[in-house]
Amino acid sequence: MLWYGGDYNPEQWPEDVWTEDMALMRAARVNLVTVGVFSWARLEPSEGVYAFDWLDKVMDLLDDNGIQVNLATPTASPPPWFSLAYPDALPVTPDGVRLTHGSRDTYCVSAPAYRNKARNIAIKLRERYGEHPALAMWHVHNEYGTSCFCDHVAAAFRAWLEVRYGTLDALNEAWATSFWSQHYSDWAQIMPPRATQYLPNPGQRLDFRRFRSDELMSAYIEQRDILRDTGLPITTNFVFGGWVPVDHWRWAREVDLVAIDDYPSQAGRAAAEQSAFAADLARSWAGGKPWVLMEQAAGVIYTGGRMLSKEPGEIERHSLQHVARGSSGVMFFQWRASRGGAEQWHSGMVPHAGADSRIFREVAELGRTLEELPELGRVSADVAILWDYEAWWGLDQPGLPAEGLDYLEAVRQAHRVLWRQGVLTDFAHPSADISGYRVVIVPSLFVISDAAAENLRNYQGTLVVGYLSGVCDAHARVRLGGYPGALRDVLGIRVEEFRPLAEPVTLSNGAEADLWSEVVELHGAEAVVRYPDGSPAITRFENAWYVSTRLGDDAYAAVLAAAGIEGTGEPGVEQVRRDPMTFTIRHP
Ligand code: GAL
Repeated sequence: MLWYGGDYNPEQWPEDVWTEDMALMRAARVNLVTVGVFSWARLEPSEGVYAFDWLDKVMDLLDDNGIQVNLATPTASPPPWFSLAYPDALPVTPDGVRLTHGSRDTYCVSAPAYRNKARNIAIKLRERYGEHPALAMWHVHNEYGTSCFCDHVAAAFRAWLEVRYGTLDALNEAWATSFWSQHYSDWAQIMPPRATQYLPNPGQRLDFRRFRSDELMSAYIEQRDILRDTGLPITTNFVFGGWVPVDHWRWAREVDLVAIDDYPSQAGRAAAEQSAFAADLARSWAGGKPWVLMEQAAGVIYTGGRMLSKEPGEIERHSLQHVARGSSGVMFFQWRASRGGAEQWHSGMVPHAGADSRIFREVAELGRTLEELPELGRVSADVAILWDYEAWWGLDQPGLPAEGLDYLEAVRQAHRVLWRQGVLTDFAHPSADISGYRVVIVPSLFVISDAAAENLRNYQGTLVVGYLSGVCDAHARVRLGGYPGALRDVLGIRVEEFRPLAEPVTLSNGAEADLWSEVVELHGAEAVVRYPDGSPAITRFENAWYVSTRLGDDAYAAVLAAAGIEGTGEPGVEQVRRDPMTFTIRHP
């Protein structure tokens, strides 16, 4: 059985609406709802004073209606009393501004007061509802992703660095602090990467991102361990992209099932591509464990200052994309569109218009469709794209040899061209076991650890490596002796110079390339495509390909086809096999 439902926030509504909610949920075949995500102020209206009666009623009502509960800990949004009592737990921006209560996610994860209060409310929820018959799953927090640069964070960052490096000498070496007089003679001198005069230190920035991910994860683990003895699955919701800047490969090991939120930022087929990307990432993060689409929108999504609506049929198409790719269910944010509050214009499964609406009819229809699906099995792919947060973070900084280098876009391009051709892809961490894949694509893997380089060296299948891969070590320091340092031998080439392009150029196969080029010497490899000056642009060394420039989608697809990956997909028709059926989704 697939889960079907969404975030349910009954505290926003009078109780007579709850009765209607139950009837509508039954009509839509809803079987799981996420409750309490942002309820802290209603559960603990003042410090140490608890009000659980409303949640008792909600839990019982859902149970009476046969609907299971994914109970959240409300720690993504501390109440106003907390911020007033513990001002040192309010987050500070890189330029030193302390934020004020008034939105959500306004806390510092390293502040002792925040951690204490977060643990406390998790304990209270565990005590009160741990044995409730409706409880099926725990949803810790919401989208762990806040950042802070205060003194609590500085102390925690130093402690993390001491564990990582052991000695200041090792840290100074890793961060190349001899440049610009940055040598540290005491741990206390080290700061988070706060606003500074000119270019920051790349090693410091990269480590701060690793630290932030681990620090948020330790807050998750504290709560998870409080809830552990209920024996129920525990998760928190992940999001790809910059909104939740944590290393989901590491986090995925700590959850019982991977949960993702998917809010495409484009419309039409581009949105479908984004949803497929998110679902393939979730399946890959889960690495064989279950995963679920925890949130999506039933209608209007507010994204970056624009409102995007869902066209008729799009609710079902996007949902089935996730199910086809392995999701254990389909969930939304949120059940009923809010009447007021910051997200009053974000859609709901029950829109402002009420149940007599296209959106609710589509939601109810989807409930029926999901209920009728057979028991579904696993999904498997024989092509993998390497995806790595550290490479992304390494390439996401000022002072690079070209503006406009975009790791996420390089990864998305690889996924996009294969999605269009109907080739299902996994994502893989650079150090993961990739021996089972026929082809592995490596877009712009700028930072690469020694272990990952060794992994690629041992790989026997077809490798397609993109520009700016293998260039830096795990500390974002250049690997010397010619680029792409770690992969020269695998690719049979040596790059003496980067040559960023001011204008696009036409390659020997007629394809246009832009932004980036390299001076490639052949050391065993052959030139398959050349730059206008006759030097190699795309090379091949046995089954290892190197693309030293940025191509458009069609030219990139041609390289992948030459390397042996070409699908038979029709434009706009997505077909995915998940035993025992093949899903066919038509995107207009
Ligand atoms: C998610 C979040 C939800 C809601 C939704 C729509 O990122 O988890 O609580 O805010 O976006 O904006």
